[in-house]
Amino acid sequence: TGYVTLDIGYKNTGATQSAITFLDGELGILKYRGYPIEQLAAKSSFIEVAYLLIYGELPTEEQIKKFNFDLSHHTLVHEDMKKFFDGFPSKSHPMGQLSSLVSSLSAFYPESLKPNQTAEELNLSIIKVLAKMPTIVSWIYKKSLGHPYIYPQNKYDYVTNFLNMTFGQRTEVVEIDPVVVSAMNTLLILHADHEQNCSTSTVRIVGSSASNIYASVSAGISALWGPLHGGANQEVIEMLQKIQEDGGDTDKWIAKAKDKNDPFRLMGFGHRVYKNFDPRAKIIKKACDDILEKLGIDDEVLEIAKKLEEVALKDPYFIERKLYPNVDFYSGIIYRALGFPTDMFTVLFALGRLPGWIAQWKEMKVHKEPIGRPRQIYTGATNRDYVDIQDR
Ligand code: CMC
Repeated sequence: TGYVTLDIGYKNTGATQSAITFLDGELGILKYRGYPIEQLAAKSSFIEVAYLLIYGELPTEEQIKKFNFDLSHHTLVHEDMKKFFDGFPSKSHPMGQLSSLVSSLSAFYPESLKPNQTAEELNLSIIKVLAKMPTIVSWIYKKSLGHPYIYPQNKYDYVTNFLNMTFGQRTEVVEIDPVVVSAMNTLLILHADHEQNCSTSTVRIVGSSASNIYASVSAGISALWGPLHGGANQEVIEMLQKIQEDGGDTDKWIAKAKDKNDPFRLMGFGHRVYKNFDPRAKIIKKACDDILEKLGIDDEVLEIAKKLEEVALKDPYFIERKLYPNVDFYSGIIYRALGFPTDMFTVLFALGRLPGWIAQWKEMKVHKEPIGRPRQIYTGATNRDYVDIQDR
């Protein structure tokens, strides 16, 4: 009852007050806890940014040491979880596996089901999900190859450990290239939070019913999977490859994107909030050039991407609608250069977004927010009498 404001897709509705991430879509500003994304991407590490998002401050040396220590002691997943990995078809999409596997953690750590966890218990759940996610992600990849799983090793930092479990071998020592570690840190930092986007709002709303952290994060992973959200990074590369196979005619594909009778959209373009540029895309575009050069990779799809951007940014259709490249436009080209297959891209986005989901879930709990429950304007039949089946 009462007055309902209709805002389909929540274009103008604020659902919470948050002190985590600041975003100005007109000016292209993104800050985590007040720190500009440009500075964090250049100077920080992913795990430091995770700490900043979750606990509110940049850690001291002592604090980061303890954080890394705690994380490294929870990186193993229960051996019984391997049965889940075994059960998935080897070609099933990594995002479907990831959401199920993260949700299943609640079965192995039932203390997370307690709706009124103490601060310590809550923190332990946070550490566990953060620590186990890289193990799960890399094992999904190993399974797709049919290769043996590589166990986490405490001597590595968070990102190197992940890369070692993903690209390492059981029988030989594979040195992880520092260029790859640094690129991975940058990408994960840029994805770490983005205020009330679709997946984060999902995590908050699921958590608002006092659901456990694993179920809430799993719901966020499902929301991220869609091609209009995190799934766009996979779609971008598939689109660029199609354009390449089609002879590289960017004008033709721009025309398709503008055609209202054609469902095709220029993937990696446009954003609900950024109407000038996406600061993450700016950093990623430059990182893309740097990393490919450092790794000595010449990728023709990068040239196609740049040509597409150039053509689109001059086109009145894109100018009028304020459509610019977003975070997903160039990220896939880097993931490809690092050696990840296309269907792993969105899983990497999830790995990056995890600290943001956790921080937002925790903030929602600390603020004791009420259960999320949007209203509607009913448009169905007013009143009908039941008709027996033989009379219909
Ligand atoms: N290509 C062609 N036309 C577009 C595109 C695009 N990529 N994006 C928006 N438009 C048009 C759209 O057709 C509409 O035109 P009109 O006013 O004539 O009907 C207008 O621009 C406004 O679009 P909208 O769909 O109403 O805007 P939205 O805020 O609801 O959607 C978006 C934002 C990101 C879902 C959308 O721009 C899109 O579908 N982009 C492609 C998918 C993508 O790259 N997603 C990643 C987003 S950033 C990272 C993340 O969130 O994970």
